[in-house]
Parts: sequence; C-alpha cells; structure tokens
Amino acid sequence: MEIAINFTNMMESVIGSEHGISEEEIEKITPRMREIDAQLKEQRKKGGLPFLDLPYQDDLVRELKKLSEEQKGLWDNLVILGIGGSALGGIALHRGLNHPFHNTLSRAERGGYPRLFFADNIDPDGFHSLLSMLDLKKTLFNVISKSGETAETMSQFMVVRNLLKKHLGEEEYSKHLIITTDKKKGLLREILQQEPFLNFIIPDGVGGRFSLFTPVGLLPAAMSGIDIEELLAGAALMDKKCQSEEPWKNPAYMLALLLYLSDVQKGKPMCVFMPYAEALKDVADWFRQLWAESLGKRFSLTGEIVETGPTPIKALGVTDQHSQLQLYIEGPHNKVIVFAEVKDYTHEVPIPQDYGDIEGVGYLGGHTLSELIQAERRATEQALTNSKRPNLTITLPAVNAFTLGQLFFLLEFSTAFAGALYSINPFDQPGVEEGKRFTYGLMGRKGFEDKKQEIEEQRNTKKNYTI
Ligand code: PA5
Repeated sequence: MEIAINFTNMMESVIGSEHGISEEEIEKITPRMREIDAQLKEQRKKGGLPFLDLPYQDDLVRELKKLSEEQKGLWDNLVILGIGGSALGGIALHRGLNHPFHNTLSRAERGGYPRLFFADNIDPDGFHSLLSMLDLKKTLFNVISKSGETAETMSQFMVVRNLLKKHLGEEEYSKHLIITTDKKKGLLREILQQEPFLNFIIPDGVGGRFSLFTPVGLLPAAMSGIDIEELLAGAALMDKKCQSEEPWKNPAYMLALLLYLSDVQKGKPMCVFMPYAEALKDVADWFRQLWAESLGKRFSLTGEIVETGPTPIKALGVTDQHSQLQLYIEGPHNKVIVFAEVKDYTHEVPIPQDYGDIEGVGYLGGHTLSELIQAERRATEQALTNSKRPNLTITLPAVNAFTLGQLFFLLEFSTAFAGALYSINPFDQPGVEEGKRFTYGLMGRKGFEDKKQEIEEQRNTKKNYTI
C-alpha cells in the first residue's frame, strides 16, 4: 500500500521546454541538492529537525491508545480549541479517516467514540452556537497551543473554563479539559502549575504546522478511533523512502524540486493541490498552510530581502472542475496542478442501467461512481497537459491511516527541503507573529501599547477612502 508520484506531465518531453522541466535542468541542480541533503542529515543527527523523528514514538502511541480506551463511552463530544497548525492536522485526519458523517452517527455507530468538533475560529456566532448545543456534562475540551498565548485559543479556553466551572462546579470542571502545549514555555504551561489539568507535550523544536504527528493531531485522532499506529507506520515508511540524496530516488526531494523549478525558472508560483476524494479535502487545507506559512518569507537565510514564496491553492475534484478549472486550462501559465488520486475507494456505487434508450444518459449505466470520478480526473489531466499546463499525480492505493501517514510525511519533508532550495527558514512565521502583536496592542495587552498607537496613528493621519 505505497503511495507514488507520477510527474511525467511536468517534463519538457511532454509539455515543451517553455513550461516543462528537462532532465538536464534537474541534473544541473543535483549537486546543490546533495549539499542540502548533507546539511539536513547533519542537522537531523544533531536533533535540529525533530519533526522528522516523530514517526518513532511507541510510548506516546501506547499512552494515547490507553487514554482513548479509558475515555471511550464517557464523552459524547470532544471539542478541539486551537488554530492554524494547532488545528489543521487534526481536521485533516478527522475528515480523512473518520466516517464522513461521523458527528451525525449514533454513539453505537461511532463505536463509542465521541463526536469531534474543531473550533478553529473565534467568530462569536459560530462559537456561541457550538457551545450552546453541547451538553457540557458529556463534553471534553482539548486546548491546543504551542505558545500558550495565542489570543484566539486563550480566549476560547477562558470562555470554556468559566462555563464549565459555572455549570459543573470546582470539583468537576477540570476533568473536562486536556491541555496540549510546550513542555516548559508559555502561559498555558504556567497555568498548568496552578491547575493541573491532564496535559500532553508538543516536543521542542516542532512548530505548529509540522505537529500533526504529535499529540496535536494524534490525540483527537486516537480519541475518535483512528489507528494512529498505522498512521505513524506510514510516516516511517515515507521517511525510509526519503533517505536518498538523489532526487530521482527521493520522492520528497523530487516533489520539492519540481515545484521550486516551476516557480523560479518557469514562472509558475501557484500550486493547486487538487485531490479527487472528499476524504482528502482537508489535506489540501492543511497543505495550503504548510506550504504558505513555511515558504512565504521576506528574508533569505543570509538576511537579504527576497520576499519569496509560492502560493498554494486548494481545490477538490470533481467539484472544482465546475468552478476553477476553466482558469487553470486557459488562464495564465502560472500554475502547477498537484492531483491526488485514489485507486480503491471504500465503497462502490454502481450506476443503474436505466434510460438505455436515451443515449446521452444511458451510456453511464453499468459503470460505477469510482469509474466516473477516475475518468474525470484522467480527462482533466489530459486537458491540462494538452494545453501545456504542468501537472503531477500522487496516487494513493486507498485512503487509510497507512497511506495518509505517508502523504503527510512526504509533504512535510518536501516543505523542509523546499525551504532550503528557496534559501529561507521554513520553520518560522515572523509575519504571523507581527499580526499577533498588533492584536495584543488593540486588546490592551501590557507591553504592546506601541502597536496600538501605530494603528491609531495610521488611521488618524492617512486619508481615508471609503465608499
Ligand atoms: O504553524 C504555526 O506555527 C502556526 O500556524 C501556529 O500553529 C498558530 O499560529 C497557533 O499557534 P499556537 O499553537 O502557539 O497557539
């Protein structure tokens, strides 16, 4: 059950030299790739790339499986409070591996596991509505924040903690909260000194968007019955496959290289991730954050202003064939399409052989929906290729924990490698941090008064254009 990448339609021999990449172009950059490979291996050996070691956590898997078994049946709902990298991995796992209508199934149909809600926004109407439909007595909250001070998550936490205290009392409320945060740093860790909620650790040096294989993603997954052992086994397999220094033998390096060369040499800074499976819809969302936040940077590693980074776009086959595809096929030559296809869907839906006398409909009869979705992906691939639009296909034999583990790890490793190709640091997010500081200023946090002032000065001194 190994996933594979077919990049034939990225190549010059298929779509021509203006848009396609030649073997010579790959050979030319191979010495640099070998250097990067050596640096990454050295960094990993010294413990500098801890996200790469996450597939190997037998103790954590045992602990989470035990927790999940102990808690099964106790809760109707598990609500995740977290945002960005503290939510998107969990969401992708939930959509990818749980029943598509998990939350509408009965408890028995869910195998005793709770319903799962990800509150990754602070829209007051959305959050209020969620809280008001939950029976708090049967609801467990998992607060996830690496920094322990993200305003969105911390305010949600404060609202929920207060509500739990009021409704369940001092004795009870703390049993309804699990905290996932840094081992030593951050305000959530400080709070844990006073209120010893059950808590899990996000390992040192693992940033939010690389934390899917930590309790950030694994706890909600395990608690809803996902096989996290298989997930990590898939990641470990991909780790093994990504050990070669040769791009031709290393899927993570080749994927990063193709997208990088398409951007910097072929003028294609946009990367559309388009799975043909509902289950992979939120993998596209997760990848969008991973690729954007990791690679969109102002400064190079040597401090020059580069303002670089590709733009990831999410799409869903076949739905978005009737939405964005026209642009991709005939619009500007500035995109690469990354398809994710599934060989075996879990269910087969035959199309009945009705309307045999109406040729324009009858031809569908006798086929299945998987044949149709696969044919449509293949047709879209051909149409793109004919109009010289580079595209590649990641094939999953089926969607399961083992194949998704491979896919997530592949995309994380590719992102780290792409960071080195772009000569930027893929592990920080100074732009996001700056936005956080302005929020702190506006919300009256001590030490951030200058940020509030900056916004007010701008508002008061600049001409305002509003219609
Ligand atoms: O990937 C990242 O680092 C970010 O998206 C963070 O996950 C996000 O900003 C939330 O941060 P925190 O987990 O500290 O609350």
